[in-house]
Amino acid sequence: MRGIEEKKTGNIYGNLFTAYSGKLFDESVELFFKRHKMWGIGLNWFRDKVCLDAGCGGGRFMVALARLGAREVKGIDISIEAVSVANQRFKQRGLGQVAAKVASVLEIPYSDNYFDYVVSSGVIHHTPEPYKAFLELNRVLKPGGKMFLSVYGKGGLRWFTNDIFRHTICKIIPFKAMEKLWVGVGIPANKRYNMLDNLYVPYCYRFTEKEVSRWFTDNGYTNLNRVKFERYDYEVLSSRVIHGEGWIQIYADKIL
Ligand SMILES: C[S@@+](CC[C@H](N)C(=O)[O-])C[C@H]1O[C@@H](n2cnc3c(N)ncnc32)[C@H](O)[C@@H]1O
Repeated sequence: MRGIEEKKTGNIYGNLFTAYSGKLFDESVELFFKRHKMWGIGLNWFRDKVCLDAGCGGGRFMVALARLGAREVKGIDISIEAVSVANQRFKQRGLGQVAAKVASVLEIPYSDNYFDYVVSSGVIHHTPEPYKAFLELNRVLKPGGKMFLSVYGKGGLRWFTNDIFRHTICKIIPFKAMEKLWVGVGIPANKRYNMLDNLYVPYCYRFTEKEVSRWFTDNGYTNLNRVKFERYDYEVLSSRVIHGEGWIQIYADKIL
């Protein structure tokens, strides 16, 4: 069952990521720098580090990490198409220290304590066992390393509406047909990817900040830093009504 659902998830993302133009991709790489500056997280830290992007998609964060001087950048993703397009992008940009391969975040094909930095953004809530995935991220991260985890928060009108469509119209209209329709009305690739995935992927879990923070504290992390997503602010009432707990994005250090 897991194999079939992983394949379905991989196909949806493969389809969405291969549609990115060079310009859209480059803009998505820049977001990594912009967000870290906004969060006050120094970009020099990444120099010479060994990094993993677990659920790397089209490879935008991997390109960003390479540009920041990381020594080695590995990526895994269950989407064959996403990995293939990511590796083409690395080749085009002459990034020899960067490589992605097909693998699941539920069974990361690297040894314990291999990485200095592990990022997993928008991924583990799409697996059948998010906490197991978290434990895998933790396993491959060295003591003293940094993790950046980004998962969906619970609640809000946006999820309410999403789920109405997810459990009704999207059960009738197949993904490919819906995507064609959205392309037809001129919705750009990045916007399609931000919404269509959550309507069609088999798993789409959401969490509270408290739950996710517990994952970190139970596994020996310190300096938990919830960083804000630029499109909304979970401390503002209107944003809470629309987005509930919002994106839960946490930077944390694994205790030595
Ligand atoms: C929302 S996209 C995020 C991609 C990337 N992290 C980014 O921010 O651009 C989610 C990604 O997770 C991948 N994914 C879903 N389940 C996975 C699993 N079990 N193992 C590895 N990757 C998975 C999908 O194929 C997709 O590329």
